[in-house]
Amino acid sequence: GARREPIDPVRFVSNRSSGKMGVALAREAFRRGADVTLIFGVGAKVRVPTPIKCVVVNTALEMREAVNEHVHTSESHKPDVVIMAAAVADYRPSSVRDQKIKKSGKVPQIGLTKNPDILQELGVERGEERRPVLVGFSVETGEIDELLQDARSKLNDKKVDLIVGNFASDAFDLDTNRVWLVDRSGRQEEVALSYKSRVANRVLDAILRL
Ligand code: C5P
Repeated sequence: GARREPIDPVRFVSNRSSGKMGVALAREAFRRGADVTLIFGVGAKVRVPTPIKCVVVNTALEMREAVNEHVHTSESHKPDVVIMAAAVADYRPSSVRDQKIKKSGKVPQIGLTKNPDILQELGVERGEERRPVLVGFSVETGEIDELLQDARSKLNDKKVDLIVGNFASDAFDLDTNRVWLVDRSGRQEEVALSYKSRVANRVLDAILRL
């Protein structure tokens, strides 16, 4: 789901992601017997099944810390797969005011700073190793050709194994989704509009094929 990047104690920058796709992936992986840890944004508007271990984060930096803590751990606890379904904020306000910005003053200018790309960092660090398997999402608003091209670029840029491409209009805040799976071997597959639980299972099947 969405991060919340604070501006002052009462305001934040965020996006429309609900977190439903990430929770569906966690639930379906858990149903298949996986040991699942779900790291999700405080803005997620979904209930998480209680047996799943959860870490709630506010910001992209907090998410990065939580992800790294779970990835850079003892050999026996290292995850086999990391799925980044989160709509991580690309930018955060450069400075956070410690007092509420008053309406009476001048209209504030909010400078932005780029957030680190958590998935790309994992891909670069992993190098030639193939563990953990890395899966990313790619949300677009254009045409299918562009979506597939972006998914392929992200596979290379982030050095990951599978990208799940989807359109914001099909995905955000809905119980259903339509996705395209593009993997590092060049395989490409469309998953027609269906409930996120079914989409999640198709993503997990694609991970097993890797
Ligand atoms: O480059 P783009 O933001 O479209 O990439 C989306 C993918 O990268 C998603 O899997 C998302 O969770 C991940 N991401 C990330 N850290 C960011 C931005 C995106 O891990 N700062």
